Amino acid sequence: MSTVETTPLQAPTPSAWVDEAVRRWPELLSDHANCEKKAASTALAMMFAYPEDRELASRLSRLAREELRHFEQVDRLMQAQGVPYLRVKPGRYAARLRAAMRTHEPWRKLDLLLCGVLIEARSCERFRLLAARPADGAEGGTALPAPVAELYAALEASEARHFQLYLKLAERHAQTAGLDDPRGVVAQRLKELAAVEAEAATAPDEDFRFHSGAPTGGASREAAVSSVERERVPREA
Ligand SMILES: [Fe+2]
Ligand SMILES: [Fe+2]
Repeated sequence: MSTVETTPLQAPTPSAWVDEAVRRWPELLSDHANCEKKAASTALAMMFAYPEDRELASRLSRLAREELRHFEQVDRLMQAQGVPYLRVKPGRYAARLRAAMRTHEPWRKLDLLLCGVLIEARSCERFRLLAARPADGAEGGTALPAPVAELYAALEASEARHFQLYLKLAERHAQTAGLDDPRGVVAQRLKELAAVEAEAATAPDEDFRFHSGAPTGGASREAAVSSVERERVPREA
């Protein structure tokens, strides 16, 4: 499947982010482990918020289990590579998306599902970009260790499936909620949220995270500082 043809993203990840991610791959792995847990937790939160939606529950239950399996894969890889788990404060990405979401139904559910589309699509794009970089097994240098690149290549397809699932659920919701021109409503709102997402994922960003923007180069000591900070309750991705 070509993710290029189907991606809802409005701007590509800056190549400076990919360079930084290759250079800081241990921190990337640690934040990636967080993202997988958050992806599972977000799916569970939607199941709690909309228990009457049985199809959503069964689809997202499966998705949450898959995200937890991804977490286990990342965690095993971190241990095999000797990467410590770092506590970091959440980046701006999810907060910006959350700020753009509407809080009343049926729009809240639509926005939650469409944010799911965008987050999964961005993850998919970043896995693809990282997997495309040459891997040589070197540590802390200019290439990803081969097992890290292999994992990212394997995860790209899952995340592509996930963004398509969230999109399907969003279109189904727009229909069952009785909105006029459901497909048009979804396409228009996806465009609006995608503009917010593109800004968060590409504008200069002092923090380095799996979903951060273009690195400013001013945060190289951040990991050491933030390792003593408490991570907040995960609800961002
Ligand atoms: Fe995942
Ligand atoms: Fe996912």
